[in-house]
Amino acid sequence: MNDEASGSTPILQMQDIRKAYGSVRVLEDVSLELGAGEVRCLAGENGSGKSTLIKVLSGVVRADAGQVRLHGRRLSSDPMAAIAAGLSVIYQDFSLFPNLSVWENIGFLRSVTCEDVFHRRGARRRLAVDTLRRMQVDIDPDTPVEMLPVASKQLVAIARALANQARIIVMDEPTTALTRSEVAHLLDIVETLKKDGVSFLFVSHKIEEVFAVCDTVTVLRDGSVVMEGPIGAFDAGRLVEAMTGRSVDSQRLPREQSPPQPPFLEVSGLGRRGEFVDVNLALRPGEIVSVVGLLGSGRTELAQTLFGYMKPDAGRIEIDGKPVAFGDQTSAIAHGIAYVPEDRLTEGLFLSQSIADNITVSSLGKSTSFGILGAAALLQRARAAVQNLRIKTPDVTPAVATLSGGNQQRVVLARWMEHDPKLLILNGPTVGVDVGSKRDIHELLVSLSRSGTSVMVVTDDIPEAIALSDRILVMVRGRITASFDAAAVDEDTLYNEVIREDRT
Ligand SMILES: Nc1ncnc2c1ncn2[C@@H]1O[C@H](COP(=O)(O)OP(=O)(O)OP(=O)(O)O)[C@@H](O)[C@H]1O
Ligand SMILES: [Mg+2]
Repeated sequence: MNDEASGSTPILQMQDIRKAYGSVRVLEDVSLELGAGEVRCLAGENGSGKSTLIKVLSGVVRADAGQVRLHGRRLSSDPMAAIAAGLSVIYQDFSLFPNLSVWENIGFLRSVTCEDVFHRRGARRRLAVDTLRRMQVDIDPDTPVEMLPVASKQLVAIARALANQARIIVMDEPTTALTRSEVAHLLDIVETLKKDGVSFLFVSHKIEEVFAVCDTVTVLRDGSVVMEGPIGAFDAGRLVEAMTGRSVDSQRLPREQSPPQPPFLEVSGLGRRGEFVDVNLALRPGEIVSVVGLLGSGRTELAQTLFGYMKPDAGRIEIDGKPVAFGDQTSAIAHGIAYVPEDRLTEGLFLSQSIADNITVSSLGKSTSFGILGAAALLQRARAAVQNLRIKTPDVTPAVATLSGGNQQRVVLARWMEHDPKLLILNGPTVGVDVGSKRDIHELLVSLSRSGTSVMVVTDDIPEAIALSDRILVMVRGRITASFDAAAVDEDTLYNEVIREDRT
């Protein structure tokens, strides 16, 4: 008899897990169970302890107290033991080897944990091909992983877990980099594997996903379980309230009509070969414009061009009515433009340096009427920013690496706001940020715009675009294909516009 399939005993039990870093208590007596074929969502605000709990589970972080049991047996805190016991964690960066091929990545763990040391290349390649087929995924097994788009990397990471015969797959924010149709595909795969009895622990900030795929949910707040149960016992409002301890409005933020002024930025006929063509747009002071498009639509390249990362090869950019040619970011910054990049880890942060240094790095040497900003003044600015953006940390001196993912994202935001820009361009400003904080960031951007800053938001988050913009431009395959008054457009109309070319 297969005890697992009967669902009588949970296959995974975490009992009274406790963890502190110095005086910061991160997990307090957290318990959680997972049955065979169960998909459990681990929900909670940024910094509530989700990733830490997962690291305890996978043996990367040692808990101060409590235990993990797999199939009733106590699991020692050791990453290899966890993998051998059928537990596989997919971290946000997927931990793949970029220069190895798809099949080598998929077969990698198997070659480490398999008792057969002669588990040869041919066998591992076959295993990889079979696994991809089982997932109904069409990826060339011989491509180096670094050549793949993010969505495919994600699928390779899942294939690796399966090839290693994982019975429990943990995914820490698996869908942040995926577009809607890719998310749908991933969720289909989860459903299929679930039927084979594979269990999932799933971290996501996207409420609709949680309801689409999970059977049960555990909500963490400040390191404690505040609510737990079958997903059917919740509705979206109740779940968000459990996470944040307050109710969060998802309505459009009130916007005032900005007085008709000449545009701060005007772009005409802008193009870059292979990336975007004939882009026209104007941004007035105090206006918030979103550019909505799928991954690969040219949205990021457009934003980067406006910030001088790359040069256009057609068209013109005018600032305050005068044509400009940005050779680099320094000249864009000198014109009052700031850019919050999409990928906080590679483009944004110095992880080993303090929160304060990361926030004020570009204000160093900034002169005020009193002269150069001193160390104390910088520290004070950093503290104010931490407070404004509600960055969860006891102080501004710890390294950025000690912050949770969503809080690192806010540090990037804080740094650029330090510039008092005339135009703030944000690429995916709330990716990985929890629902409550997302609202805070939107409100912050709206209040920034009230003080006259132009804001351009590049996003694929349609509700986000509607919630905070005045105008929404849709970008499809390098062209602006539609423009909407954000107050008068609904999500479905916008979504259909965004995927227009995908359907034909
Ligand atoms: N190595 C560390 N040293 C000190 N504090 C840490 C360390 N790792 C995590 N923390 C703290 O533990 C808390 C929980 O972090 P964790 O990464 O588990 O949050 P999370 O729920 O995954 O958040 P997010 O949704 O933003 O990813 C945070 O306040 C974080 O600053
Ligand atoms: Mg996390």
